Amino acid sequence: MSLRTSRFALDPAFAVGEVDPRLFGSFVEHLGRCVYTGIHEPGHPAADEDGLRTDVLALVRELGATAIRYPGGNFVSGFKWEDSVGPVEDRPRRLDLAWHSTETNRFGLSEFHAFLKKVGSHAEPMMALNLGTRGVAEALELQEYANHPSGTALSDLRVSHGDKEPFGIKLWCLGNEMDGPWQTGHKTAEEYGRLAAETARAMRQLDPSVELVACGSSGQGMQTFAVWEATVLAESYDLVDYISLHAYYEEHDGDRDSFLASAVDMESFIENVVATCDHVGARLKSKKKINLSFDEWNVWYQTRAESKPPEEWVEAPRLLEDLYTVTDAVVFGSLLIALLRHADRVTVACLAQLVNVIAPIMTEPGGPAWRQTTFFPFAQASRYGRGTVLDVRVDSPTYPTQRYGDVDLLHATAVQADDGTVTVFAVNRSRTEALPLTVDLRGTSVGSLVEHSVLADADPDARNTLTDPERVAPHPAAEGTTSVRDGSLVTTLEPLSWNVIRLA
Ligand code: AHR
Repeated sequence: MSLRTSRFALDPAFAVGEVDPRLFGSFVEHLGRCVYTGIHEPGHPAADEDGLRTDVLALVRELGATAIRYPGGNFVSGFKWEDSVGPVEDRPRRLDLAWHSTETNRFGLSEFHAFLKKVGSHAEPMMALNLGTRGVAEALELQEYANHPSGTALSDLRVSHGDKEPFGIKLWCLGNEMDGPWQTGHKTAEEYGRLAAETARAMRQLDPSVELVACGSSGQGMQTFAVWEATVLAESYDLVDYISLHAYYEEHDGDRDSFLASAVDMESFIENVVATCDHVGARLKSKKKINLSFDEWNVWYQTRAESKPPEEWVEAPRLLEDLYTVTDAVVFGSLLIALLRHADRVTVACLAQLVNVIAPIMTEPGGPAWRQTTFFPFAQASRYGRGTVLDVRVDSPTYPTQRYGDVDLLHATAVQADDGTVTVFAVNRSRTEALPLTVDLRGTSVGSLVEHSVLADADPDARNTLTDPERVAPHPAAEGTTSVRDGSLVTTLEPLSWNVIRLA
């Protein structure tokens, strides 16, 4: 039996909003091999004079990552920034409580700054502050070290360390997942709300133009969800710019249909946080809107052995090294669609993480670097998802799921670039059926197909590995599948597929 045609219409008169390039951010945490043997591996054949892997740098550029959050994650809640600056041989080795590892501090602020410069001008730092074991004073000291030009103790210390120019960090996270009992220095919403407000006030005294992210919930399922956001923002509404959201998705107990619908949860999470922010704004009679920083999102198999902390305090252990399948990439693409569909309020988002740790890029120490299946949807969205998100209301056949009830088989969005070209991003969630799609192009000026790229595979569990790094990649849709005629795009989406359809 074939599925009935799914449909939507595109009209630039009905837009969601402009895409902020920071929607395509990522995350480098001192966790496992993200930094060490991930981006930084002195002695590797591809390493440059700073010990940065040039093969990884090339892939990061191809990925199109923009704002890069650093240095954690859970790691930051025990991090002393002073340990990570100055001569490398003088830097202390420390216990990293978050990941039961030994942190050597061979890579620190200066090395991260050098890394970003080499990624390119579109990359910017998103610096997380330790509000777990530390507070206002240390946040100010780091801000002075990083951003003040010179002529004070800490700015001159940076200059003496060889970084004459300030790092110019605009975007700061006021802690990480402070709602989580696992977090070193975990706090109640009242305690954290005050600390976030005090830190924000002080940082703005140093530089009123900083952009600040308050910690929201580390998941929609947290018991304190929504009350946490409302309490934190009641203290800090006028002082911060963003509230954070974190979400990771995985398949539970073989329930693949619900897993494929993970974006339903992500979209409701976003809408619930928007409602909570606006409720606080209304209570405060404020005209200001708080935007959302979805600064950790991904597919993550937290229940698998590779996610468990090691027993020993080893350096750069293999941790969270999930290898992603085609199915994971389709879910991942759907999460990207969810972010784009809310681009009016989600103006920062970070794919967690960048290399080796639940990452689109994998490396082998001394060996090659390669692209995971999830690399492709991200790179395509970052490349073609810039401009104005159009308001896409789909009419689609549905399928039943245990977690979310009946869910549309089609998940889609469309972005119109400044030059008028339009890119449709679409996922077919059906595991077995091709899904016919007709898009009414009415108000747009597009009339021809540039490309229809598909990520799908006869084996939904296919993945790229060290020994078979190019097993999965997007391919052009079969000849004749997609056409533009009589003002409509007409196509068929392969079962379990991620699709990028470019129109000019
Ligand atoms: O990204 C991995 C971890 O997930 C981060 O350190 C933490 O913030 C989250 O719980």
